[in-house]
Amino acid sequence: MNKVALITGASKGIGKALSEKMLNENYFVIGTSRNNEIKNFEHTNFYSLKLDLSNTTSIENAHKEVFSKFKHIDILVNNAGIGPDLDTYIPEKKSFNLTFDVNVTGTVFFTEPLIELISKNGIILNISSKMGSLDVCELTDSVAYRMSKSALNMYTKILKNRLKDKIKVASIHPGWVKTTIIESNLINGRLTPEQSADNIFDFLTNEFESGTFWNSENRTKLLW
Ligand SMILES: NC(=O)c1ccc[n+]([C@@H]2O[C@H](COP(=O)([O-])OP(=O)(O)OC[C@H]3O[C@@H](n4cnc5c(N)ncnc54)[C@H](OP(=O)(O)O)[C@@H]3O)[C@@H](O)[C@H]2O)c1
Repeated sequence: MNKVALITGASKGIGKALSEKMLNENYFVIGTSRNNEIKNFEHTNFYSLKLDLSNTTSIENAHKEVFSKFKHIDILVNNAGIGPDLDTYIPEKKSFNLTFDVNVTGTVFFTEPLIELISKNGIILNISSKMGSLDVCELTDSVAYRMSKSALNMYTKILKNRLKDKIKVASIHPGWVKTTIIESNLINGRLTPEQSADNIFDFLTNEFESGTFWNSENRTKLLW
């Protein structure tokens, strides 16, 4: 039987590349997008799920659909994330709130009810960023984005403590990837989404210690 992976933000960038990678590796993939339209993506083992993490009703509807259609999930990848204040320096309330709504609040309240559906020895992988690492931060840009990823990392730690041996939980830095999360990444990014997805898949399918913060680009542990 195919293992089931639920990947948020599967319409483009890293989430789309990881969905394609996992389909090629014989997983059944539930992929989310806000408009439920994932272009150039047709596969018998792919289920498209509508989800806007900034909207409580959308999250509730997504839960109802998942619980009615699926008996279990093996891997939940919380990939969807935004960075409207990337490369800016002074926090601005609207983008600050939106960043937290999606990267933190929406991600936490989307995850919570799904935990009971995750199989024993399953995995929750939070796509974080080394920009959220408190230990290495010397810069002053992207206040909301950095803080949201630090908060997501704390959620990883809390889930690791709560779920103990039942479900493994990790935060991962996907590398500096050529996506449109910010236009300059298309030029400056070091990895293609496909390369990043390969690295994330390697991490997911090899033994790892629950509660790890992992840099998938150079395969080392990150400081929190
Ligand atoms: N690119 C990098 O260099 C880099 C580095 C470190 C960490 N990351 C992290 O990697 C993850 C993926 O980023 P990416 O670079 O692939 O970005 P991306 O290409 O912009 O893709 C973001 C995904 O998130 C979804 N999304 C946006 N707003 C959403 C919302 N309100 N509700 C639900 N889904 C929403 C988008 O789907 P729709 O718009 O179709 O709904 C899209 O599929 C993010 O968490 C990001 O912080 C990226």
